Amino acid sequence: MPEVVLAHQVDFATWRSASRYFVHLGTEPEALHWTVASIGPEQQYGAGSAQYPAPVPVMNLSRRFALALGQVLQLHDPERFAHLYRIMYRLAHDGLELTDLHDPDLVWLRQSVAAVRATTLRFREAFSAFSAQQLASGILQSAPEHYILEANARYCTQRNVRPWQVVTPYRRMEWTGDTLRFAAGADVVRDEAAVQWQVDGTGIWRGYALSVVTPQRKDVDTAPNLALLGAEAMDCRACALWEPASRTVFGEGPQNAALMLVGEQPGDQEDLQGRPFVGPAGQVLDKALQDAGLQRHQVYVTNAVKHFHFIWKGSRRLHQKPEAEHVAACRVWLDAERRLVQPALLVMLGVTAAQSVLKKPVTISATRSRLFHLEGETQGLVTVHPSYLLRLPDEASRQREYARFVEDLRLAANYIGQVDQCATEE
Ligand code: URA
Repeated sequence: MPEVVLAHQVDFATWRSASRYFVHLGTEPEALHWTVASIGPEQQYGAGSAQYPAPVPVMNLSRRFALALGQVLQLHDPERFAHLYRIMYRLAHDGLELTDLHDPDLVWLRQSVAAVRATTLRFREAFSAFSAQQLASGILQSAPEHYILEANARYCTQRNVRPWQVVTPYRRMEWTGDTLRFAAGADVVRDEAAVQWQVDGTGIWRGYALSVVTPQRKDVDTAPNLALLGAEAMDCRACALWEPASRTVFGEGPQNAALMLVGEQPGDQEDLQGRPFVGPAGQVLDKALQDAGLQRHQVYVTNAVKHFHFIWKGSRRLHQKPEAEHVAACRVWLDAERRLVQPALLVMLGVTAAQSVLKKPVTISATRSRLFHLEGETQGLVTVHPSYLLRLPDEASRQREYARFVEDLRLAANYIGQVDQCATEE
């Protein structure tokens, strides 16, 4: 009986080439044996079975189905390799149609996708909360129900660019700040000194499938906390900006913040660091917050649009204002952030933020510097965007406008101070 030896639990590359090869040969599912190479505590992972020659013609799989296969390969079930092969075999030889809702193999496939998706989201939520705190050790211990770690490599590097390590029973994954590495998990190698790291993209670490968990509207509307909401936003494809951008830059700050600041969209630095307002405009904002008696870590800071919109000029990325369609597509995230934070005051920094929140054309000159009722218990305040201050041509106007900006933030500080006082007196 032919045996296929996979290099590790999610060795998609070997599974796929072997499946194509044996389906083409007409090898029946019962006649094929699948195993995962076992490794000792101090060994490196070896290669999987020799690559199988690509048959001609190869099977054409839809992108969606290929994604599902990659997801189900993460199921914690030793029979999954054979089960998935049976589906491939039946598609090629038995006239199985993917649209058949009642076929037991396809019912199993859909249930398995859902199980892996649920575990993936739980892991992403935990990683998101861990990244928001960045624990001193930078190590997240996790015990996911399925083999989902490798498939979330891109998610983790996008969500948190600082160095981190995730340790699970079956696998360790480490991001050094510029390199991703894998090693056997805590149940395989218990002694830290004996851990053997292998760099992503080399040897066997080429062929695992990445999970793309496209957010669903009902999940966004019902997300119970910011960690999960931010995790769901990472694979958002609702407008075209996700593709050229490096990552989704989600809001950050405490969920119980009394003050929420909304900017326009991440800039170059924010896109690289994965955090809002950390570039030049962020520095102006931080100083102005301080001068107004506010601390950045008390405030929830976010943007109307969560991806960087830019054009290349030589080797530089030049900021482009987001289009109305980008703002509209991203509003679900801002609405969900508002639902969870329920700030006493929401400050709109600049015209894009104001138009996104107020859902109508506005000018800064007509609306700025006064509090108004927004909705529920939330008041609104419009002011300029800090990057406006950076664009002013002369020092005198920069100083004057900076002072006005600080005045607006002081109005905000006084208002939330009063709200806090009322809450303590109650
Ligand atoms: N400008 C914004 O509006 N948001 C950022 O996060 C950075 C610059």
